[in-house]
Amino acid sequence: MKTILDKILNDAQKETDCASDLKGLNEVRIKFLGKNGEFTAVMKNLKDIKAEERPLFGKLINDAKVILEGHIAFKEKELSVKELEEKLLSETVDITLPGKRVEYGSLHPISIVINEITDIFTGLGFDVTDGPEIETDKFNFEMLNIPKDHPARDMQDTFYITDDIVLRTQTSSMQIRTMLKQKPPIRIINPGKVYRSDFDSSHSPMFHQIEGLAVDKHITLCDLLGLLGEFAKKLFSKETKTRFRPSYFPFTEPSVEVDVTCSECKGKGCPLCKGTGWMEILGAGIVNPRVLENCGIDSGEYSALAFGMGIERIAITRFGISDMRIVFENDKRFLRNYR
Ligand code: PHE
Repeated sequence: MKTILDKILNDAQKETDCASDLKGLNEVRIKFLGKNGEFTAVMKNLKDIKAEERPLFGKLINDAKVILEGHIAFKEKELSVKELEEKLLSETVDITLPGKRVEYGSLHPISIVINEITDIFTGLGFDVTDGPEIETDKFNFEMLNIPKDHPARDMQDTFYITDDIVLRTQTSSMQIRTMLKQKPPIRIINPGKVYRSDFDSSHSPMFHQIEGLAVDKHITLCDLLGLLGEFAKKLFSKETKTRFRPSYFPFTEPSVEVDVTCSECKGKGCPLCKGTGWMEILGAGIVNPRVLENCGIDSGEYSALAFGMGIERIAITRFGISDMRIVFENDKRFLRNYR
């Protein structure tokens, strides 16, 4: 019995020494000290031994188990340290590696310009409205004094959905929608998308406009000129000069086209302004009395000013962009410049 015990202990110690990791060591522990382990098997054999010798052998078995437990515990500590060291080594952080860059977004140049213009006009007491991009021919044209077959329809190459439904070609349709539901005094601006069948380096089939409308008693052309002159100074710079040229829109009379001194060359003449020193930024005028009457507003009592500007045109002027198409390509290398 003693020799068997010595052999088991000897084998167990050898196997403990050979264990290369904690998992392997645990297998050794189970093999020798577990419920079905070798020492338990020897214990079971005690019953075959003479009663007076049993306590002695029982003690020998327990001693051997204690020795083995100590041996395993020692090995366990050694392996834990080794495994921790290996883990730390494999998980070291290479602080010389470049970090992960967090890309943060920015507003699109068109949104930047819309926000700036909106801020200027809300500061002057205008409210902001919103309207549908799919519009009736009636609101987009007819009520604005552009009946069917009117030559002015040629000014705006229109996408027709049906004979009576169009993709709005101008935010001026909001003049009608607003005057039909709101009583004067009215002061609104309406930023939004408009559509025209046009595509080259200075035209995109979808672009943005901001329409402005003020209806009140005694509104004159002077109010319009003062308002837009002030607006141009706020948007570009204090030095910006404004020039008004007579123009024609069926829904305003008189009508003007507004130029500002080129923001790039300050009026000297450069490629951006094609050498003229001026950039055209908007159309405007005193609302044709017929349009007021179409909306049930007494043109004897009230008058109105209206203006409409293309946002892309202004963004191009503001940021010196040479090709309008790039604004809608959403190339991050371009957009990144507007952070
Ligand atoms: N709707 C006109 C355009 O798209 C601009 C405009 C608006 C002109 C308001 C006068 C008054 O060209």
